[in-house]
Amino acid sequence: MTPSSLAASAKEEVCACLCVSVVKNMDNTMNRIAPDVKLGKDVKIYGYVNLYGCAIGDYTKIGAFVEIQKNARIGKNCKISSHTFICEGVSIEDNVFIGHNVTFINDLYPRATAEGDRLQTDDDWVCIPTRVKKGASIGSSTTLLCGITVGENAVVGAGSVVTKDVPPNSTVAGNPARILRRMEDKG
Ligand SMILES: CC(C)(COP(=O)(O)OP(=O)(O)OC[C@H]1O[C@@H](n2cnc3c(N)ncnc32)[C@H](O)[C@@H]1OP(=O)(O)O)[C@@H](O)C(=O)NCCC(=O)NCCS
Repeated sequence: MTPSSLAASAKEEVCACLCVSVVKNMDNTMNRIAPDVKLGKDVKIYGYVNLYGCAIGDYTKIGAFVEIQKNARIGKNCKISSHTFICEGVSIEDNVFIGHNVTFINDLYPRATAEGDRLQTDDDWVCIPTRVKKGASIGSSTTLLCGITVGENAVVGAGSVVTKDVPPNSTVAGNPARILRRMEDKG
């Protein structure tokens, strides 16, 4: 890249940044919330988040350093803890707890480039959706592979790698995540 094309791309980036609202909070932290974000009633957003093209339901809390991409949907009364990444194609129902540093995935075989060494665009890959159903909890530092459903009220242990569907009312943990117990197992 030549210095002039570098300057041109830096300018583009500045222009792109000007198209989104940078919201200064009362505690002097910043958020980048694109105009296409649909925010419900009384959504609480902590500092340094990056939200674009997503929808967030009423009363949900979004912790610091969270990124939520386009076409992701978060329900009502959810808690999304700090440092979590929610990608395109993820759908989170109401009353869901997402711990810190949780990573969602939407492409099982990602590549930077397509044929001819050109960078991939949205047309070069297919987004695989993931669903987290009502009342589920995802422990901190969990990674969820795509194309799976975490069932209603299920609990995923901290540090898990979830590779397949989690049945409702069950607790799973580990890499790969395996069932520790089902709700009816509890005395
Ligand atoms: C999984 C969890 C919910 C406990 O579930 P539980 O059914 O009460 O499980 P237990 O504590 O009885 O442990 C059962 C077994 O699973 C193991 N285990 C518990 N949590 C585990 C985890 N996260 N990963 C791997 N194994 C785990 C225990 O060591 C135990 O193994 P053992 O039978 O060989 O001794 C809890 O450990 C957890 O990870 N919670 C998430 C906490 C979190 O991320 N909070 C975020 C906000 S701070």
